Parts: sequence; structure tokens; C-alpha cells
Amino acid sequence: MDPFTLFFMLVSFLIFFTCWKLITTKTEKNLPPGPPKLPIIGNIHQFHTQSPHRALRKLARKYGPVMHLQLGQVSTIVISTPQLVQEMMKTHDLNFSDRPTNITSQIFFYNNQSVAWSPYGNYFRQIKKTVKLELLSATKVRSFSYIREDELKRVVKSVETCIGTPINFRTLASQTVNNLVCRATLGDVCKDRNILLDTMTLIMKTFSSFNVVNLYPTLQFLNIITGKKAKWLKIHKQLDGILETILEEHRIQEGSSQDHEDLVNVLLRLKDTGAFEFPISDNNIKAIILEMLIAGTSSSSMTIEWAFCELMRHPQVMQKVQSDIRATVKGTTITDSDIQNMHYLKLVVKETLRLHGVPILVPRQNQKDCNLLGYHIPAKTKLLINAWACGTDPDSWEDPGSFKPERFENSSISYLGADFELIPFGTGRRICPGINFAIGTVECILSNLLYHFDWNLPDGVNPQDIDMTEVTAISTLPKYPLQIVPISRPLVSYAPGGTLVEP
Ligand code: HEM
Repeated sequence: MDPFTLFFMLVSFLIFFTCWKLITTKTEKNLPPGPPKLPIIGNIHQFHTQSPHRALRKLARKYGPVMHLQLGQVSTIVISTPQLVQEMMKTHDLNFSDRPTNITSQIFFYNNQSVAWSPYGNYFRQIKKTVKLELLSATKVRSFSYIREDELKRVVKSVETCIGTPINFRTLASQTVNNLVCRATLGDVCKDRNILLDTMTLIMKTFSSFNVVNLYPTLQFLNIITGKKAKWLKIHKQLDGILETILEEHRIQEGSSQDHEDLVNVLLRLKDTGAFEFPISDNNIKAIILEMLIAGTSSSSMTIEWAFCELMRHPQVMQKVQSDIRATVKGTTITDSDIQNMHYLKLVVKETLRLHGVPILVPRQNQKDCNLLGYHIPAKTKLLINAWACGTDPDSWEDPGSFKPERFENSSISYLGADFELIPFGTGRRICPGINFAIGTVECILSNLLYHFDWNLPDGVNPQDIDMTEVTAISTLPKYPLQIVPISRPLVSYAPGGTLVEP
């Protein structure tokens, strides 16, 4: 087929399906208001920007807190205020507990068998409960303190070798988080660890890159003729080989006395002893562990980088949090109980999550038609919750755009999903199961880096010069990785409460 015919067929297809979709959605339903839709693309041009959460908030101010967008062929509802999220969760959480899936989630997560991609139902509830209990519960996270202490000792040593020279903070944060997540999930057994990490990076790139077929699902053939599907299947095959080896290594090691059981050990034991109510296969286990490795890394390391960006921009907050940490640590290493007493550090983490948490929640989809505030929402509509817009809602927050950890000082607002103005981990049945693990990781890395070192900006860069421009891939990151210079901490001491005691 010559390129012209192919192009002509493609355009005809697009026009036909989009006109059909636009006409049917407009005439048959009482949908929420939204910006005018262009032919063929609908509102794609208003959504696909570097900071979609900001673009959506701007549109919501004009069209209202519940808004309809047509993203190609995908009918989408956007919710942008805490009140609306509360209303949604009260009445429609169960109905909106499915996830819209796509060809890449299908290929990489073994036909959507991981926690995040599986449809709401018995299998989903069983595996979410298992990962929460066996990897992500508060007790489990405490039991991984030996991994955190071990890894952080190594990180502190390596930063000591860079004193006085600028380092790429993003690389430092993401490698540290990745090591913690890998050791908790896989143990120390994985001879192909570097290839596994490279393949995971490729998968994350695939997920965050633009794919027209996600907006025009009827054009699946494009993934075939452009060779994308073949490429993804090849990556998946390589990854499957590595995951298969990991399971084998764990099976061989089974029975030998081990101090600590990792997630793979647990899943294999539960599978082999028939302890699951709904039996699972090796492919299910591979999908689950792959997701833990990917979901566990990017959001936590992003939070650490944003926290450091804000601290470097606000030297007074930096000084206050370092004093709090240094006054709390009792011995030579930082223990979990030290961290529990670092009150100001906890406020810094909360404020970072409010301003820079996952900005738009992972999408949901409704199983059945429903009525939301008098609007008709047809089944299988995609739902986006703009968590960032809730976190910066002017009716809920004073001076919402400023970084002020003190705002949480006497506040009971938490990020556990019940306070809808602060939902960086989501809410309802699909809330993030990794909150304990994430907070444990973020607080441990931040406290160690802030306790052992002071930090400067490279020569000639002032705090107000730090570029806070965002770029959204899987997570929303600073567009330019933070470069900072570690320096040895001064030999001073702190009284309880963080007051400086002169030597
Ligand atoms: C600061 C770090 C993190 C942030 C901000 C974060 C945020 C989120 C958000 C917003 C969701 C979607 C929730 C919803 O739809 O309501 C989610 C889902 C999920 N997260 Fe996290 N997450 C973090 C760390 C982790 C960690 C450490 C793990 C595991 C090791 C993890 C595993 C998951 C999984 C499996 C889901 C899917 C849950 C479901 O579909 O029911 N996350 N996360």
C-alpha cells in the first residue's frame, strides 16, 4: 500500500469515528459542561501540555468543578474540588473503581493482572490485601529498617566522596529509592538486576510517551503497522525472562534458613500452599512484583527531589528542619524512633506532597451509567481527579501556592484519603497501598541527607534561580534535575526543640 493511500485511509477513519463519537455523545446525554470541542481531536490540545493539572485547573475555573472533555475518542470527566471528590466518593466510589487499560498495560502487566491495572473484583481485592499485608503494612515497613540503615550508610559514604562538588540530585534520590524497593521486594537475589532496571526504565518511558492509539482506541492497527507492538512484545519477552529467573532463584533458595522473607518468597509460598482463595499463577506473581518495583520508585524519589528543591529555595525552612533533625538524633545512625520524633520534617513532607504530589490521580472508569450532580455519566467514561487542584484550592487553603510547612502545625489534615483537600495518595477503594512504605522511604532518605550534610547551590546560583518548571512523564518532575553541592556539616550541637548551642 502506498503512503498516500495509507494516509487517506487513516484520516477517513479518524474523521468517521470522531464525528460519530461527538455526535452520539452530544445528542444522547446530558453531560457536564466543558470547553468547546474541535473536530477530530476534541480537547486534546488543551490537555496534552507539560503540566496538564495546571491546564485543567484553568479550564475548571471557567467551566466548573465537574467538567467534560473529549480526548479524541475518549469521553473524560474531570473533577477539581475537594467537595466534588467527597461527593463522588460518598456515592460513586464503587462504580468508579475500575481502571481504563491500554495495550501497554496489557502487554507489560500480563493482561492487566497487577494491582493497579486489574479490574475491581475478587482477584483485585485478594492481591491488594496481600501486598498491603506482606510488603506495605506499617509492621512490614518497620521490619525493613535494616535495609534502610544499610543502604543509607552506603549513600552517606558515597556523598562524602563528593563534598564540594555539584551532584545530580535526581540520580542520587532515584537510585537510593530503587535499591530500597528492590531489596524489600526481591531480597538480595537477582543476578540480572542491572538489566532489570534498564528494562524497567524502558517500560516507564513507554508508559509516559505519547501514543495516539490511547486517544483513538479503534485505531489499534497503527501500533502494528508502526512496529510499536512488536517492539513492546520484544521488551516484554526480555523482562519475562528476567522475572522467570527471579522466581527460579527464589524457588531454589526455598527451605534454606532465611532471616527475612521478601515479597517474592511470600507470594510463592502462598501460591504453592494453596492459601489463596482465588488461585494465582506465576504470571500473576510477575505482574505484581514488576508493579511494586515501578510504582515504588518513581513517586517517592520525585517527592524527595521536590522537597529538596523547596528547601534550597527556602533557606529558613532548611535551617529549621536541619535543626529539628540534628536535635532529635540520639546515636551515630538515625533510627526509626528518631524519625518518629522529627515533627518538623513530617510537616515538610506533607507540604511537599500538597504542592508536588501526584498531580492527577491515576484514572478511574465507571462500570455502569450514573448520575453525578444531575449530569448523566455513561458507563466506561474515564474519570480524572485533579488532586493538585484540590491541594491548592483557594477555598480550602490560605495562600495555597506558597510552601509553608507551618500550615500543618496544629492541623489534623492527613494524606490518608479521608481529607479530600489533601489526596496525594488518592482515596477510596483504589487508594495507594504503598503509603507506609513511601513515607518510611522519603523520611529516612531526607533525614539522613539533611543530618549528615549541609547543602549549597552551585557557584553563582541563588535560591530564587532554581527552576521549578514541571514536566509530566509517569510522575511530575522538575524539568531540570536539581544540581546541588554537599558540604560537611558544621560541628555544633542542638538543644531539644532545635535551638542551636554554640560550641
Ligand atoms: C510518595 C510516593 C507515592 C505516591 C505520591 C503515590 C501515589 C499514588 C496514587 C495517587 C495512586 C492512585 C490512587 C487512586 O486512584 O485513588 C497510587 C496507586 C498505587 N500505588 Fe502509589 N504512590 C506512592 C508510592 C507507592 C509505593 C511505594 C508503592 C508500592 C511499593 C505504590 C503502589 C501503588 C499501587 C499498587 C497502586 C494501585 C492501587 C489500586 O489500583 O488499587 N505506591 N499511588
